[in-house]
Parts: sequence; C-alpha cells; structure tokens
Amino acid sequence: MKSVASAPGKIILFGEHFVVYGIKAILCSIDKRITATSQFLDEKIVRVSSSLGESEMDLNSLNNLEKIPQKFMKPFFYVAQKAIEENSSEHGIEIILESQIPAGVGLGSSSAACVAVTASVNGLFNKLSKEEVVKRAIQAERTIFEQNSGADSSVSTFGGLMSYDLKNGFQDIPSRNNLNFIISNSAQIHDTQDIVRQVRNFKEKNEDMFRKLCKQEIEIVKNATTALKDNNLNELGSLMLKNQDLLKQIGISTEKIDLLVREAKKTAYGAKITGAGGGGCIISLVDNSNMGDTLDNLRKISDCFLAKIDYNGLTYR
Ligand code: MEV
Repeated sequence: MKSVASAPGKIILFGEHFVVYGIKAILCSIDKRITATSQFLDEKIVRVSSSLGESEMDLNSLNNLEKIPQKFMKPFFYVAQKAIEENSSEHGIEIILESQIPAGVGLGSSSAACVAVTASVNGLFNKLSKEEVVKRAIQAERTIFEQNSGADSSVSTFGGLMSYDLKNGFQDIPSRNNLNFIISNSAQIHDTQDIVRQVRNFKEKNEDMFRKLCKQEIEIVKNATTALKDNNLNELGSLMLKNQDLLKQIGISTEKIDLLVREAKKTAYGAKITGAGGGGCIISLVDNSNMGDTLDNLRKISDCFLAKIDYNGLTYR
C-alpha cells in the first residue's frame, strides 16, 4: 500500500521576519508542489530519498535523531518516528519526495515537504485532519529551525490567501483574487535559520529602530488587507515596495536582490523579497498588461517563472 500526499510551496506577500515577533503576515500558497509517497518496508529501517539525497536509519536508532548526517532530513525521520511509536508499528517505512519547488530560495520547500511527509506517513495508519497535520509538521520543522513561526506550514496545509500571526494562527482572507506573480530567483541560496538569527541580532542591537519598523509593517499589512479585498493592484504594488524597504533596513537584501527589484518595478505594480531573503527570490505583482514586459526584463538577469495562488493546500491522492 502506498500513501501519497502533496503540499504547495508559498510566497509571503507581506510581513516575513516581522511575523516571528508577533506581527501579522500575509501569504499564499502557489501552484508548485512537493509530493511525498510512503510505503511500509519489510526491513526495519526508515529510508528517505529526494533529489537532494538519500538517508536511512534503523528503527532502533530513531530516538537519536542527532545522528542523521543530512540535517534537512531530520524532520522527516521525526515524523516517521512519531507515527511508528503512536501506532506501535514494527514495520519500516520508505518515504520518497518529488519536488517542483526550488530549495533554499524562500518558496517554502522545507515546510511543504514537512506537510506532505506528515500527511503521507500518517496516511499509512490513519489519515490525519489538516489541523493535526499542520501541528505535527510545525513540530517536525522545529527540530531543525526552532524559531520558525509556523506561517509557511499553515499556508501549505490549508492553501489560498491567508493572514497568519503567532497568537491567532491562520485566518483565511476571503477573496478569490486572481493575482499573478513573477518569481525571480537570485540563485543565492540561503539558510532560513541563519537569516532569522541575523535579524534577531539586528533587533537586539537596534531595539528602538526595530520597534518603529514593526509599527510600519503593521500599517502596511493593514492597508494591504484592504487593497486585497478591493483588488487594488496599484496600491498592493506600492505597499510591496514599502515592505521591501523595511526588509532592506533589517539587512536581508543583497545587491542582486536590489537589482532584481529595480528592474521589476520599471514595469510591474511592485516587487519585493519573499521569505527569508539574504538572496532567495523576489516576487513581482503583474497582470496581463505588464506580465510580458516584466518577464522579458527579469529573464535577462535571473531565472523566472509565473506563479498563481493555489487554493487546494494539502491533498491526498
Ligand atoms: C520564512 O519563509 C519566513 C520567515 O518569516 C521565518 C518564519 O516565519 O518562520 C523569515
């Protein structure tokens, strides 16, 4: 028996990093997915394979996850260990990941993988509800990235356009906006945890300034919520540029990102980093009137693709 689940990547429209400190963020899932396929094995091992590598552990060693050589695989073994323990299983499990989401560039590949693996592995026993999946997926991701806000896993599980904050969790933004984004990859790979740590250092050294920036972010998110309801692309674009300016001030932009944003804003409604920054991707907001010109411009300097909002979130096959 195979248990297959897939979960989408995400982009953050507003509020990355500030969300770690309790500010509301706005994000959506996108039409690029990770699929996890799990099946029982006769051997008493858990084996995980993906295009980024393969790793396996004996069932007896699962309680010592520190031994895993590839750190990014730790959440998947954690999920397997919990499922085996909770179901008093003696079977091994194989987990195969297939991804359409570029890794390490701010598009939520690691959270989508945690969500898909949680749903797929537990589906071998009893299918979990989306609420149960997201809870377990966040715990799993926290085995390697403790300060993770949970925003990425939430949007990957529930899909669509949402706001998220630490206190209230996920809140659907009731709109079926047909927003179109161009995602441009700076090809500068980052480690989200490192960048989050870097921002924490910045905050600790610049408490007053950080507080002011948080206030500005709150205002941006508030105005963006209205602009989304009104489908006001001009306003959304200008708020994205304001948000980019805040991200630059907290030190997570790079020369390449600045260049991409400068080029994008010649024709798009707005553009900004999405996700952790320190490289990674920018998103540009476009519609049919400026999509072609913006793509032509950005393609000269980066790999780009078009993304639409995914309204499905986690799905089982
Ligand atoms: C990463 O996609 C978003 C950050 O805000 C971290 C987090 O929310 O856990 C940088």
